[in-house]
Amino acid sequence: MNIAVAQNTPRQISLNSHLFHRGNAPDSLRHLIVDISRAAKYIQNAIRTTDTGLAGSSNQFGEEQVKLDVLSDDIIQHHLSESRLVASYISEEQSEVIQLDSRAPYSVVFDPLDGSSLLDANFAIGSIFGIYEGSDVIGKKPAEQIAALYVLYGPRTTLTYTTGSSVHEFLLNDVGEFILLREFIGVADIAKNYSPGNLRAVQENSAYRSLLNTWLDSDQTLRYSGCMTADVHHIFAKGQGIFSNVGGKKYPEGKLRLVFECGPLAFLMEQAGGSASDGTIRILDKVIEKIDQRTPVIIGSKTDVQKACERLQNPLL
Ligand code: F6P
Ligand code: MN
Repeated sequence: MNIAVAQNTPRQISLNSHLFHRGNAPDSLRHLIVDISRAAKYIQNAIRTTDTGLAGSSNQFGEEQVKLDVLSDDIIQHHLSESRLVASYISEEQSEVIQLDSRAPYSVVFDPLDGSSLLDANFAIGSIFGIYEGSDVIGKKPAEQIAALYVLYGPRTTLTYTTGSSVHEFLLNDVGEFILLREFIGVADIAKNYSPGNLRAVQENSAYRSLLNTWLDSDQTLRYSGCMTADVHHIFAKGQGIFSNVGGKKYPEGKLRLVFECGPLAFLMEQAGGSASDGTIRILDKVIEKIDQRTPVIIGSKTDVQKACERLQNPLL
């Protein structure tokens, strides 16, 4: 008679359990992050099933919205509102702060579909979230976030979060559960990859041209997709790298937004041992004055971020 030997199936750790045991998240924050992860599953499904066409409208930045920008925004709004944990939220797709439940403990900032212009090319895109305590974000600094996360919709869907002490990545499995992929992600001080955004700016910004030239003359390898979430995720995945988006004539402060893009990703980057600066000031120390605030950003491996900031301040012309 054959006797079957029980296999030791590896224990899979869910996002919910990880938030509880490792993330040290209070119950309300854990519930909120799990609710956000549920929204992301609906967005992932919408990406697969909705056409990539334009919505026929523009967002507060005058950028043409695709249908999925609007749909993703609606999906997130629905889940935040249903959670009863959110006092107010700010979305890249809406021009004002939206009040939900004044007695609720948190405020959420988000970019519902970062890189959505890449949808028709079937490149990776993402959703970015920052979470603050209290009912107002204006006047605060991104350093005051208590958690940040992003979801990357690529060949696989992953979620990366921090609750303010370390960074962890989860994979969406076939039954719709986010399962732990990598814990305690670290970013080394030295970058082997560089990812320069808004490169049109080198035409008018000679300091940015000088920085680009130092990268071109180095042994570093270019990795640039055109979606900040994917490009910053590349740094977490490879454990090193540097991403920049610096201003020129069209976008004097660069293209990216402090509240929904640079703030949350800078919070994650610092928890992984990297850094993020606008060239002079740490991104996390910038005061949020208005919701549509743009900022230059240099983010990733600490030593290279420092060197890049020095080069922008003292370009070799
Ligand atoms: O949300 C703006 C965005 O799509 C980012 O995800 C991306 O990094 C940036 O625009 C790309 O800008 P550019 O094409 O100018 O480098
Ligand atoms: Mn974006």
